[in-house]
Order: sequence, then structure tokens, then C-alpha cells
Amino acid sequence: MLSLRNVEKTFQNRQGQKPLQALKNISFTVASGEFTSIIGPSGSGKTTLINLIAGFLHPSQGSIRLGGHPIREPGADRGVVFQEAALFPWLTARENIAFGLLNMGCKGKSGRKRALHYLGLVGLQDYANSYPHELSGGMKQRVALARVLALNPQVLLLDEPFCSLDNQNRCGLQDLVTAICWAKKTVLFVTHDVKEAIILSDRILLLSPRPGQIVGDFQVNIPRPRRNHMGAVQAWENKLLGHLGPNAHQGFPISI
Ligand SMILES: Nc1ncnc2c1ncn2[C@@H]1O[C@H](COP(=O)(O)OP(=O)(O)O)[C@@H](O)[C@H]1O
Ligand SMILES: [Mg+2]
Repeated sequence: MLSLRNVEKTFQNRQGQKPLQALKNISFTVASGEFTSIIGPSGSGKTTLINLIAGFLHPSQGSIRLGGHPIREPGADRGVVFQEAALFPWLTARENIAFGLLNMGCKGKSGRKRALHYLGLVGLQDYANSYPHELSGGMKQRVALARVLALNPQVLLLDEPFCSLDNQNRCGLQDLVTAICWAKKTVLFVTHDVKEAIILSDRILLLSPRPGQIVGDFQVNIPRPRRNHMGAVQAWENKLLGHLGPNAHQGFPISI
């Protein structure tokens, strides 16, 4: 459904500086409904990859297709959640979600109703009229997730959406994403947290340090819910860290 063929990205930096190759020869296909995580150390091109698929950047070489069509620009078929929730501070939680719906022609009462439905889905029905500054970091990420889900995109692109959250909030959101997305949505989830990737994904792609290349592709076959199988999760974590080499612990902080 989503396919990348020999994708490369080189940033042409300012005059006098060498071009910087962020991604090299990236090819993979994601099936509809598959939850795929991409893990790699800082600087391995994870955000660049998300930006390419989102259509915010163009590849230097290669092609990216969604449902057979080349990706040329951002579109409603892809929804992105970034590291920090980019909510409009002057709009309430519900208005932030409803604003995104305007482009779909969903406005007025039906927009407000749909926004409330998705706020309920992420457990924030009581915060519809709160402004972002009145919400915790975890709640803001829930609103950002609801905003994207309300648009019902074919593919969800999540770029380290939980990385600034404390452990409790993080686990809550991991479980929420599993409940909402698993088997229903095609998700590309970027993280540098190996355990998070194992708990969430059907499949894990490993990126090498820069220039990022795919150096591993694993199907995770642990039964769900994965938190009931922490022994198997730990075994997978050891296996992946083994693949990532002796310095893996430096590049891949491990959450406990
Ligand atoms: N717009 C840009 N211009 C120049 N270099 C960039 C740009 N965006 C990212 N890079 C560089 O590309 C590399 C990969 O960055 P990034 O995709 O953000 O990695 P990650 O998300 O894995 O930490 C880094 O070396 C970064 O400095
Ligand atoms: Mg990044």
C-alpha cells in the first residue's frame, strides 16, 4: 500500500559546506493495516523519512507511492503527529480538532460533534473546552492524536510522539494507540526506544547511523497485549540490541 523504492535524501547545505546525506537506498513496502516501527539512533534520518512520506520534503532520488500514486505533496490521506503537539494555543481542545475538519467540509454542528467523538476516544471528553496551556503534555499529545484520527487518514505517521512524556503517561498512550490503531490503521511509528517499538509493532525496521539505511526488518510475533508477555518482550529487546551492535545502549536509550 505504501511503498518506497531506492529513496535517498541529501540536504544541500549552505555554500562552502558539503552536502549531507541523510538517507541512503531506502526500499520497503508497508501493507494496509500494518503497524510498523522505525527505530534508529539520533540523526539516522527518521524524521526526514516521515517528512518525505508526509510530502513535506522531496526525495533526492527514488520514489514513494501510496496506493499506487506517487506522493508529491502533503495530503489528507496521511496524518502526522510530531514529537511536540503543535496545537493552536488560542483554540480549545475541541476547536483544535474541529479546525482540521473544516478542510473536509465538516463544519458547524457536525464538526463539533465529530470533534467531541474523537476527544472521547482519547479519553478527554471532559476537557473539550480547555485550552492547550491548561492541559498536561500527555493530554496535548492525546488531542494531537485525536485531531489526526478525526481526519481518518489512510496512513498515520507518528514521529516520536511520546518521547517527552513521563513513563506513566507514555505507557497509557502506548496502550491507547494499540487499542485504536492495531489491525485498523496503517501506522508508521518512529521511535528510538526499542522496547516501545516491540510493545507496539507488527514489524520493526532498523535504521543505521547516518546516512540511514535499513539494516534490519523483523516481524514481531509476540501475542497481544504485549505487556502480559514481558519475558518475550525482553528477549526481543536483547535480540534487537544485539543487532544494533555493542554501542547500541548509547544510541538507544532504554525505557524501563
Ligand atoms: N532541513 C535540513 N537541512 C539540513 N540537514 C538536515 C535537515 N533536516 C535534517 N538534517 C540532517 O539530516 C540528518 C538526519 O536528521 P533527522 O531526520 O532529523 O534524524 P532523526 O530524526 O533520526 O534524529 C541529521 O544529520 C540532520 O542534521
Ligand atoms: Mg527525529
